[in-house]
Formats: sequence, structure tokens, C-alpha cells
Amino acid sequence: MSAEAIFSDWSHEQTALFGHHPVMIEHDLHRRELFSDDALADLIECLPRHHYHVNAMSEAGGNGRMWREGQFDGLSGHEVLSAVKNGRIWVSLQRLHEVDARYADVLDGIYAGIETRVRGMKTYKRDIGLLISSPRAQVFYHCDIPGQMLWQLRGRKRVYVYPNRPPFLCPQEMETIVLGEADEEHMPYESWFDNHAVVFDLEPGQMAHWPLNAPHRVENHDCMNVSFTTSHYTDDLRASYAVHYANGILRRWTGAEHLSAQTSGAGLYAKMAFAAFVKYSGLHKHNQRAFRIDFQVDPGSDTGWRDIPAFDLGK
Ligand SMILES: [Fe+2]
Repeated sequence: MSAEAIFSDWSHEQTALFGHHPVMIEHDLHRRELFSDDALADLIECLPRHHYHVNAMSEAGGNGRMWREGQFDGLSGHEVLSAVKNGRIWVSLQRLHEVDARYADVLDGIYAGIETRVRGMKTYKRDIGLLISSPRAQVFYHCDIPGQMLWQLRGRKRVYVYPNRPPFLCPQEMETIVLGEADEEHMPYESWFDNHAVVFDLEPGQMAHWPLNAPHRVENHDCMNVSFTTSHYTDDLRASYAVHYANGILRRWTGAEHLSAQTSGAGLYAKMAFAAFVKYSGLHKHNQRAFRIDFQVDPGSDTGWRDIPAFDLGK
């Protein structure tokens, strides 16, 4: 895939901001047949169970913070899309480059295009996942561990991006997430944080990227949305991960309060070695998450789902 064809209008300003400040960039992937409804329906029907999540959540602007896990067993791809269009659910199709070479090609084309524009950027451990979500669906305030981009294909959504520093993101919270002690979706959030957010209303053909670990939340406008995310690591991102991991362990083992989060110098190599030793020696047990499945996607329901007896799904 030609990287030139993906990014038709990338400016010097966007290159300068990339990775340092929230930035929005135009792309043309929303026109690809690979992301048509028929292609999405085919993908839904052939995807192994451990490659998807489907969630029900409280609607944007509503009270409370309900988030449930479900399944779409036995439905055709178009029935699932119908349930999304008319209900209130969020379908996440994950690690698509592992199951279909066409998505791996898109992923390679994207990063080839970025790496030719952002000098010195070299990515690895790349990932691509599709998000198909209902009108007014939302994703709560959270942060992600790797570098992230959000690509809009259909519909419109509002994306709030917050600074990746206190009080929006504290080092202790990041350490808890990296150590697997809490999931990324349960970070403390105050409505006044919005006064300090960069806000994008993403349209088809636009992509948003933000600095590493920057907290964000998403609200769909009143229309079905199709988007995808890409994630990646670089040497700098891997160093940041190791420092958070090592600091989290040191804080737990020694009670230390003031720990450097610097990702350069001799201290970095000591922390990277320490983090690798702890992680691979089994001295710190990463919580294995089980997902409690308690609804079935149902295109005949107003919400797009119905309750079923709950069971745990290990992933
Ligand atoms: Fe995210």
C-alpha cells in the first residue's frame, strides 16, 4: 500500500507536533473497500472469540459509569452491525493483523508513511483494532500504555485529550496500570479536567494522535461510528514502560515516595534491567483478567442486547 495515498495533506506543523502535543491529521483509509459494511460483516463472522470484545455502557451525558461485557455468538455480521446501529453497544475487533494479511498491509503502510515524515521514529510491536459503536456511545476517561492513534472511518465522535501529567495522570496511577493491578478504564476523573483538554470532533478521513499515556475519553455523536486504533512502541516508549514498572515495584517493596521518571541516563539502564528481572523472574504476578460475560447482542432489542446468565471468560 502506498503511504503517499494514506496521507495526502501532512504539514510541517503536524510533524513538529507529532508525539509532543495532540494533533489531527487527514487520511484516506475511510474510502477503502476493506472497511465497508460487507467487509466488516465478513470479519465479524470469521474472527476467533479471543479477538473481540462487545460492551454495553451508559450513554454519553448520562449519569453513572456502567460497562458490561457480552458476546455475539450465532449472529451474522450484518445482524451485529444492525444491533450496533440501533442500540447502545461498543464492538472492539482486536489484533486484526494477526488474522488477516490485508490489515497487516494497512498497518505497515501507515507506519511506513509516518516514519518517513517523523525523523528518527522507529516503531515495533504494532497493533490494529476496529471499533464499531452505537450512536451516543462513550468510552470513559482512561489512558493507554503504548503509543496510540485513533482513525475515523464513518460517523462523528468527540475526543477529549488531557495532559499526561498531574493532576490528570499521576505516576502512581500509571505504575498501577503497567503492573496490571488496575485496568486503564478506572482512573479518577473530574468534570473540570475538560477545561484543560484538547478537543477534536473527528470526521471520516481524520486521525488523532496524542503524547504517550495522555488520558482521553470519547463520546460518539448521534450516529453509528466506525473507527480503528493503531498502537506501537518505540525505544523511548519501551524505556518509559520499564521506568514505570521499576518505580511501581520499588514503591511497593521499599515504600519510596520520590522516584525519578526520567527515561535517560545511567539510572534508566539500571531500571530497565531491574524491571526485566522482576517481570520475567515471576517475582511480581501480573493479574490475569477474567471477563464476566452477561449479555447477548440482540438486534431485536432497543438497546442492542439482552441479559444472559453470567459466566467468566479467560482471555
Ligand atoms: Fe484509549
